Amino acid sequence: MTWRDTLASIPSVVRFGINGYIEEAIRRTGEVAAASLGPFPAVFVSRPDLIRHVLVTQNHVYLKDNPVFELLRPLAGNGVFLSEGEFWRSQRRILQPEFTSRGVDALVDGMASVAAAVAREWELACRAGRVVDATETMRDAAMRIICHTVLGVDLGADSARLGRALDRLLLLLQVELSVPGPLGGTVWRALEKPMLAAIATIDEFVAAVIEQNRAAGAAGVVNRLLESPDPETGRTMTAKHLRDEIITLFIAGHETTANTLSWAWVEVCRSPNILERLRAEADAVLGDRAPRAADLPRLPYARAVFEESMRLYPPLPFVPRIAATDDVIAGYRVPSGTMLVCSIFALHRRPDVWPAPLDFDPERFLPERRAAIAPGAFVPFGAGPRLCMGNHFALAEGAVMLSTLARRFDVARAGADVGIAKLPGSLRPDRPVRLRLRARAGT
Ligand code: HEM
Repeated sequence: MTWRDTLASIPSVVRFGINGYIEEAIRRTGEVAAASLGPFPAVFVSRPDLIRHVLVTQNHVYLKDNPVFELLRPLAGNGVFLSEGEFWRSQRRILQPEFTSRGVDALVDGMASVAAAVAREWELACRAGRVVDATETMRDAAMRIICHTVLGVDLGADSARLGRALDRLLLLLQVELSVPGPLGGTVWRALEKPMLAAIATIDEFVAAVIEQNRAAGAAGVVNRLLESPDPETGRTMTAKHLRDEIITLFIAGHETTANTLSWAWVEVCRSPNILERLRAEADAVLGDRAPRAADLPRLPYARAVFEESMRLYPPLPFVPRIAATDDVIAGYRVPSGTMLVCSIFALHRRPDVWPAPLDFDPERFLPERRAAIAPGAFVPFGAGPRLCMGNHFALAEGAVMLSTLARRFDVARAGADVGIAKLPGSLRPDRPVRLRLRARAGT
């Protein structure tokens, strides 16, 4: 990008932060934009075929161990999100069975029991005339769901402490990623201590998860992971590997779904007819009982609201890779060592790919209109061999939470409307999403 392009992108940066900057860089410089991401030189792409090139057809060229993901290494170690090669393949084979569509079906009752607990808390807030913070509630609920269904522990008072440690960590990582070149080293050294303190809190939690599972001898995922060998190599996990995987599942398994749900509530407040449709569907399918796995195919509107939230606000707005060998992309020479950044945010807002891309319109995802979505246009979970392992889990959780709560409450925004947080990383609202609730009669 020239300095002129950089100056011209300021309004987008002010509005959408780093994601606006990437989107604008691609728009200004053609389909392949050489710029930088914080301190790191990078090349940005957002066209469906180019993202497919990086993540699917040439996935053997574009690897995960890039400088941006390296920032996550002290936290997520060599877990399945960050690892590569044979080790990654083997870890994924061990973990995958829990997250197939059938595996997730077995977890839906657990999701529904957390959703019911949130409904009870919202009920109390209604009676007290209290405004609720949807960002906090959805985050707390998503944490409880991943802990209850996958990690075999119930989070009590720990959730607030863990939430604070994670917030601190995310903020520090985002600051690291935002500081340009020469200043980077100094800032990073200053951040190291608070970062390690936050990681220590999370490590303590993981140690407790492993201990509780061992002591209970329960047939949960954690014990199965400890015991079940990779079907191909016969290798079982060491304690360090298990720690890395538990942190990976805990973080990947709640931050993304929580943000998607927060954005869904933002949009529900903006268009009350969405709430009415969610409610009509939930009333017709569920009556007054909790959702079960068999109900999910009959809740297409709840799923569509969740999917449209992921389109307009992709929880992981960009996916970085590093070129292991020289390559050519759209006629542009990519030397080995280049960081390629696939912008899911920019892809999901491209006017040549999505009609009226800035409108929040869940109906795009209803079965009758779904076929009109161009191939490769919707990739909130990534693509290729590194596709999100929790995609079925997230879609189930989204439908369960939205239909449970929409059936029980009228919601309206309390306070100012929200925008997109400017720092890089997961795509959060820039302020708490505060809701005024009214319990619906007879539910
Ligand atoms: C709205 C929800 C979610 C979104 C949008 C999302 C998005 C993504 C994306 C884009 C990737 C690919 C990253 C890359 O290619 O570098 C990914 C990977 C991953 N996600 Fe998710 N995720 C979500 C929920 C979950 C949940 C609920 C879990 C676990 C329960 C999970 C576990 C993982 C794991 C383990 C990986 C790494 C897979 C691998 O590299 O083999 N995610 N996710």
